[in-house]
Amino acid sequence: MSATLAVDVWRGGADGRFQAFSVPRRDAQTVLDVVTHIQRRLDPTLAYRFACRVGMCGSCAMTVNGRPRWTCRTHVSEVAPEGRLEIAPLEHLPIVRDLVTDMREFFDKWARARSQFKPTATRRDDFATVAPHSAERRAVDEAIECIGCAVCYAACDVVGWNPDYLGPAALNRAWTLHNDRRDGARPERLAAVAGDAGCHACHTQASCTERCPKHLSPTASIAGLKRATALAVLRGEL
Ligand code: SF4
Ligand code: SF4
Ligand code: FES
Repeated sequence: MSATLAVDVWRGGADGRFQAFSVPRRDAQTVLDVVTHIQRRLDPTLAYRFACRVGMCGSCAMTVNGRPRWTCRTHVSEVAPEGRLEIAPLEHLPIVRDLVTDMREFFDKWARARSQFKPTATRRDDFATVAPHSAERRAVDEAIECIGCAVCYAACDVVGWNPDYLGPAALNRAWTLHNDRRDGARPERLAAVAGDAGCHACHTQASCTERCPKHLSPTASIAGLKRATALAVLRGEL
């Protein structure tokens, strides 16, 4: 194993270029460690984003050797056996600078998919009881651990072709709320995800599911929304 890594890092905005750095190789080194070394030791002007470093906050996602990944939980040994790394901002989002993307569009789409919880109970009501093995509980549990990292969004071809497409994360969140019996916005949410930019635009190739670092399946959630919207049409509710 070579003692150094050859690292090309994206600099500037959409019309930027890669800049080469040489970074010492360490045991158990993550891609985020590499970026941090560059910013702290080699070029303090490098812009990047992270917070928790333990796979919780979803802020450190970047394109690593051509694939979107969370960088704090990606070991260099997994992705750069030859000692070469190319690190770029996530695809399908405007670049603010260097490795930082503008996430507004990504989260605006969560709002467009009505992915906010709308409570139906008051503080005087008892807790809702949802059986652990019920279908609704399982549907929520399988999709709820999303950290909002946008890795799936960057991996989705349809987002690239159709910038209006709501994308896997917003639709995954809509599916969790659709299955939450405490929520009071099901009809509006189904209407919001049924349009041309919604669940039916998904081509089900599962790049999102393949790349999701939390091992969620937005593809399955979107399939659930397709069934739910089709049923709503048959019942004359949409
Ligand atoms: S579904 Fe997975 S890849 Fe997409 S934002 Fe959530 S955690 Fe990240
Ligand atoms: S399965 Fe659907 S949401 Fe996932 S990457 Fe493919 S088109 Fe995008
Ligand atoms: S820094 Fe929080 S998920 Fe990577």
